[in-house]
Amino acid sequence: MALSPTSRKNIPDEERLIVALDLPDASAARAMVDRLGDSVRFYKVGLELFMAGGYFDFVEWLVGQDKRVFCDLKFFDISATVAAAVKRLAGRGVSFTTIHGNDAIMEAAASVDRGDLKVLAVTVLTSLDRGDLDDLGFRCDVHDLVLSRARRALELGCDGVVSSGLEARALRESLDHRLLVVTPGIRPVDNRVEDDQKRVMTPARAFENGADYIVVGRPIRNAADPRQAAEAIQAEIAGVFR
Ligand code: C5P
Repeated sequence: MALSPTSRKNIPDEERLIVALDLPDASAARAMVDRLGDSVRFYKVGLELFMAGGYFDFVEWLVGQDKRVFCDLKFFDISATVAAAVKRLAGRGVSFTTIHGNDAIMEAAASVDRGDLKVLAVTVLTSLDRGDLDDLGFRCDVHDLVLSRARRALELGCDGVVSSGLEARALRESLDHRLLVVTPGIRPVDNRVEDDQKRVMTPARAFENGADYIVVGRPIRNAADPRQAAEAIQAEIAGVFR
């Protein structure tokens, strides 16, 4: 019988929810962190805040608040530049960063002495579907592309992948628990919004499929009561790992 894909990693339940702080500036992001209080322990800070200025002051502030931090800047450049960027990020108390899943980039990023900083490769953006891949000139299907990129990520020394919950199960089946699987595109059923995410699922389903962590942005940020929305997701996660 196939082993359960559900995460076996020793991760505190409340750290499995990563909240994406896609907000216009650091003060709006701080206000959201204050509002969420101890309901959230792990935050993702991405491109929007990076472009707003004060990015690393904000990251330092988060680390000082005893939060874990995922710097999601999806590095994509020549391998030497990506390696140098990862090196600069290491030592700032950040837990995760992202790179695009091309071989040379993954190999360069994974070769850096990076302490506790985990390097995650983006397999296929969860906002892309079959039609988008056709437009980009990929002739294989999403599922095959995710699996082949994840396999390469593991071989080349990356710590994990960012992957939709739809592929998480197949990742577990083919690669066991050797890679961290971080899953965005999460839409709690009672909070469904129409937006750009195409390959979506609920928190519980993502974990049952094998995610180690989920990334949630708009369903918390845009909720009437973000703290309540985060707490509801934390309760759902606790239910899966009970
Ligand atoms: O608002 P929403 O829950 O869709 O936010 C998802 C977050 O995850 C965004 O910050 C987005 O950049 C990120 N992400 C994603 N798909 C990936 C990688 C990251 O949606 N493949």
